[in-house]
Amino acid sequence: MYKILKKEKLNDNTFIMDIEAKRVSKSAKPGQFIIIKNDEKGERIPLTIADFDKEKGTVSIVFQVVGKGTKDLASFEVGDSVSDFVGPLGRPSEFVSEKIEDLKKKKFVFIAGGVGAAPVYPQVKWMKEHGIDVDVIIGARSKDILILESEMKEVAGNLYISTDDGSYGFDGRVTDLLKDLVENKGKHYDEAIVIGPMIMMKFMCMLTKELNIPTIVSLNPIMVDGTGMCGACRVTVGEEIKFACVDGPEFDGHKIDFDEAMRRQTMYKTEEGRKILKEKEGDTHHGGCGHCGGEK
Ligand code: NAD
Ligand code: FES
Repeated sequence: MYKILKKEKLNDNTFIMDIEAKRVSKSAKPGQFIIIKNDEKGERIPLTIADFDKEKGTVSIVFQVVGKGTKDLASFEVGDSVSDFVGPLGRPSEFVSEKIEDLKKKKFVFIAGGVGAAPVYPQVKWMKEHGIDVDVIIGARSKDILILESEMKEVAGNLYISTDDGSYGFDGRVTDLLKDLVENKGKHYDEAIVIGPMIMMKFMCMLTKELNIPTIVSLNPIMVDGTGMCGACRVTVGEEIKFACVDGPEFDGHKIDFDEAMRRQTMYKTEEGRKILKEKEGDTHHGGCGHCGGEK
């Protein structure tokens, strides 16, 4: 069992929780995720790690209430425990294995859309801890749902905020703000790391391609087992079939087929859709999840 040590509401339907998970916190690295289960019968919820403290043995998670699983999780209080907390899963961000002197020569921009600020935070914090100043953009629909602004301010070299309704910071979306920084404010970036809703990552990648900025995105498709067996998180990257849980979650954003990934997300939600996917994808579907019906 994994005890909840802290719970805070970040906005109307977004929560942060610190979970006591010594083993996970010991080996966690930026870019990785966990799968949480509220109780024996609960659904498996994949969440990117939002922070970790090796000394205290805690891992922070941030989640939006979007379905039954996250609604139930939001009803847990400090002192309660969840039954499963599996991780760290997936590959760490690529930059953690690059030489620090090489990283210092590059200018990074981290771009977070909405709740994407949570997985961006440990990456920017890692950069700060290693003496690298990076620019960060956080976009939110409106000021009242913007999250982690003060936390990000502490670790970012420069923090830029945009709101779709113009209620705070730059008036527009993250794509408009990046375009403005590069084209009107003389900013130059060698690499972008983009995390947020799939549609935002798609449009951001179209822009960074135009601006000639190599771009990494973190995908969070539907996941079931998180171990590369079920095929739920299949994506096409370039000509290759990849599984976000074991090959990712981070990929070269300019190679992702976002339209296919978004279509697949929608289809995977229904039994009929899962059957069609199983037929279409054949052996590369990785049957055996018990969800697609294709193994029967
Ligand atoms: P949102 O819809 O409020 O969007 C956040 C920001 O993204 C917007 O303010 C805007 O700046 C930008 N954006 C959105 N659509 C865009 C478009 N078409 N073009 C350009 N920019 C656009 O985001 P939210 O409600 O906080 O996000 C929820 C989604 O994010 C969920 O689907 C969740 O699964 C996903 N998410 C992804 C990750 C990840 O690891 N990739 C992590 C957390 C959440
Ligand atoms: Fe990735 Fe099952 S969640 S293959």
